[in-house]
Amino acid sequence: MQDILDKLEERRQSARSGGGEARINAQHEKGKLTARERIELLVDKDSFEEYDMFKEHRSVDFGMENTKIAGDGVVIGSGTVNGRLIFIYSQDFTVFGGSLSETHAEKICKIMEMAMKNGAPVIGINDSGGARIQEGVSALAGYAEVFQRNIMASGVVPQISLIMGPCAGGAVYSPAITDFIFMVKDSSYMFVTGPDVVKTVTNEVVTQEELGGATTHTVKSGVADNAYENDLEAIKQTRRFIDFLPLSNKEQPPTRQSFDQHSREELSLDSLIPDNPNKPYDMHELIRKTVDEGDFFEIQPTFAKNIITGFARIEGSTVGIVANQPMVLAGCLDNDASRKSARFVRFCDCFNIPIVTFVDVPGFLPGTAQEYGGVIKHGAKLLFAYGEATVPKITIITRKAYGGAYDVMASKHLRGDLNFAWPTAEIAVMGAEGAVKIIFREEAKDQEKLEAKTQEYSDKFANPFVAARRGYIDDVIMPHATRRRVSRGLRMLKNKDVQNPWKKHDNIPL
Ligand code: HXC
Repeated sequence: MQDILDKLEERRQSARSGGGEARINAQHEKGKLTARERIELLVDKDSFEEYDMFKEHRSVDFGMENTKIAGDGVVIGSGTVNGRLIFIYSQDFTVFGGSLSETHAEKICKIMEMAMKNGAPVIGINDSGGARIQEGVSALAGYAEVFQRNIMASGVVPQISLIMGPCAGGAVYSPAITDFIFMVKDSSYMFVTGPDVVKTVTNEVVTQEELGGATTHTVKSGVADNAYENDLEAIKQTRRFIDFLPLSNKEQPPTRQSFDQHSREELSLDSLIPDNPNKPYDMHELIRKTVDEGDFFEIQPTFAKNIITGFARIEGSTVGIVANQPMVLAGCLDNDASRKSARFVRFCDCFNIPIVTFVDVPGFLPGTAQEYGGVIKHGAKLLFAYGEATVPKITIITRKAYGGAYDVMASKHLRGDLNFAWPTAEIAVMGAEGAVKIIFREEAKDQEKLEAKTQEYSDKFANPFVAARRGYIDDVIMPHATRRRVSRGLRMLKNKDVQNPWKKHDNIPL
């Protein structure tokens, strides 16, 4: 009997050693952790339950029948993060370069199905040479099976992709479907076609890092959400991130004890808005001073910085924050900002996370680049996302809310539940001077008359009371009372119940 037990332990040990010491050392030399080390750091101590440890590929071509490694290049299982269930797959680059075979794909699919059945997030750690070249179409089929499950899990359980090595070709499309992508600087990359193919087809010379590194995707393309210095930092931040998320679409956001008084007043906010309406201020300050303990997990902090998105807590419970940033492009909405925030709003709505929106927006960014880039459709995405969202929506206009952008930014007309304005708010079709130049074209040619008319327009419209008189603004609030008003609003909206009409699904302007 004992020898049978010993044999099991031997088999386990062999599976745990993956592609062997030399390859593990090579992985470490690249500054990367192994698949199992990553899991160990991600989950609570001793909470990992591994499945399919002994699974092997079934390939018999190119001598593969003689090279079988238990686990087949991916470690799957469940565990907990701060006591809450998650499902994980972690590709093992030391085994056939983490390449995806038919059986490797089956393991990923198994864990995704478990996650959906049991209602808990899937964290996918990607470190792979792509489709297992020796398997051909079986590997391609495996990818498609994974994609299909990513699609089915979308909006059911949160899906997070950590890119911690190569992720190229069609392999990029699984992370692309998931809700969030975190990358590691200098050791991970994502592209559809690599530098060699790019050179052959377009004659461009580009490095892997320039083409698809973490900085490229978190600054330029917006494909990835956040970039971290190394594996350790990425995993630490992922643990922090998971704490904000409900486990599934059937759950409410998690609540943890908060030591921050809901009625805390921030007198410094009374002077946040500069006297000069063209002077910027940092919207991060308002966010941090409103939420619990100033704790804000920003999503896409380096992409489309003219809009801020991220998660925070009010009275211990998760909220999604969307805020125009006057420091960048004066807070204008553009193509990238619209896409970024629309996706964020939809994530919050999928997972029952209330949305708090801070507005200071002079409008949509003008120009051919924006129009040719499709600002009509991209702007519509954000408008659509806010309008269809049924989670509690609280909006605070701090300063400008001009034109179409006023409508788009969670206005009353898009079913905003509580729409507040600071006394400094200016809700109008456009800024006073621009308006005067259009409606008083002749008078505006004379500087004195222009100034007088601008003052008149400003007195009439550059305030929140016109909107408040119509009930488009529920109350004009003191800046220092923002946290209290938002907290109480969220309490009031706790049992909000709004249903959209039945439909198979909507047709958001993609
Ligand atoms: C089988 C693979 C493999 C693959 C790597 N290996 N990629 N085995 N299929 N796709 C193996 C290598 O043979 C090697 O085995 C080990 O993994 C480590 O690879 P190295 O090349 O030594 O590592 P490194 O120098 O770090 O280079 C990593 C790499 C390179 C850049 C990923 O391996 C590479 O270019 N691989 C091929 C990538 C590729 O073209 N994949 C197909 C993409 S198309 P040993 O035994 O020596 O350790 C695709 C389509 C998906 O994925 C479509 C879905 C719709």
